Amino acid sequence: MVVVSGSNATTMAKQLAETMGWDHHDLETRRFPDTEGYIRIPSETIEALREEPVVLVSNTFPDSGIVETLLMLDAIQDVRAGRLQNLREIGPQTLPDVGKGVILAVPYFGYSRQDKRFKPGESISARAIANMLATRCDGMVVLDLHAPAVLSEMSIPVAFISAMPELADHLKSSVNPDFILSPDKGAIDRASSVAQQIGCEFSYLEKTRIDAHTIVHKAKDLDVDGKSVAIVDDMIATGGTICRAAEALRSQGAVEVHAACSHGLFTGGAIARLLRYVDGVHATGSLPNARDVISGGPALARGVNEILGELGLSS
Ligand code: R5P
Repeated sequence: MVVVSGSNATTMAKQLAETMGWDHHDLETRRFPDTEGYIRIPSETIEALREEPVVLVSNTFPDSGIVETLLMLDAIQDVRAGRLQNLREIGPQTLPDVGKGVILAVPYFGYSRQDKRFKPGESISARAIANMLATRCDGMVVLDLHAPAVLSEMSIPVAFISAMPELADHLKSSVNPDFILSPDKGAIDRASSVAQQIGCEFSYLEKTRIDAHTIVHKAKDLDVDGKSVAIVDDMIATGGTICRAAEALRSQGAVEVHAACSHGLFTGGAIARLLRYVDGVHATGSLPNARDVISGGPALARGVNEILGELGLSS
């Protein structure tokens, strides 16, 4: 197997390759002066992609990531089908089709939060993006998708995997928290699995989002006096959710508060804001970020193995 990546998920692609003991190849990515993207599979990688199944690791964030992912998948499909015709007539123009074996692994699935239609006429963006990608690959792996139900009826197998086991290992060894808090009901499954793995107490808050920057939590007694607490969520964007939860914890006597997530978007100065409320911020490198301390490689590997099994390609 070979792992390839473009411009936006190199860290995770290398972590996956290292976990599996496979080779990693960079695809060539550039921008034209008008900002449109260009991608090319280098000659030595063309050979590797035809010899064995391939995992493309690529994010659908920011928007340019969606286009880049589609272009890379399209080029990989052409190479594996032996469609190599080129105007300069370099190399063989056609080769035999080597068959199925293209897996897309998406560390951060952009547009995942628009997963329902709230008003008539709205696009269910998460599903729309996934359906486009599914036309160009044989299986998909998605890391800590906000609400997996939105991709439950895809035309290809999809593995929903989580970095929470690695996040729990990291918190246990670096913070050793007494208590794990889910900052809203949506993160209960993820955060409680972390508490269970660490073997510590757990609770959750009920959150209402007034707007993108305003969060309100329902008052709740939490048994955190004198304790070290880690707040666990799937993603941190503005940091508003974590800051309000940390305030609630401090006001109830928590002596140390950490924030941990899979996806560190950290928009608009979020890290500086967070560090006014918490003692540490911990994330995977699903998106390039300054708090990337948890490897996502093992989680992606679990998903890739699942899809290889479903496609009958396990070695
Ligand atoms: C929402 O339900 C998510 O799980 C996160 O809690 C949310 O996206 C975090 O956003 P922010 O950091 O802007 O509060």
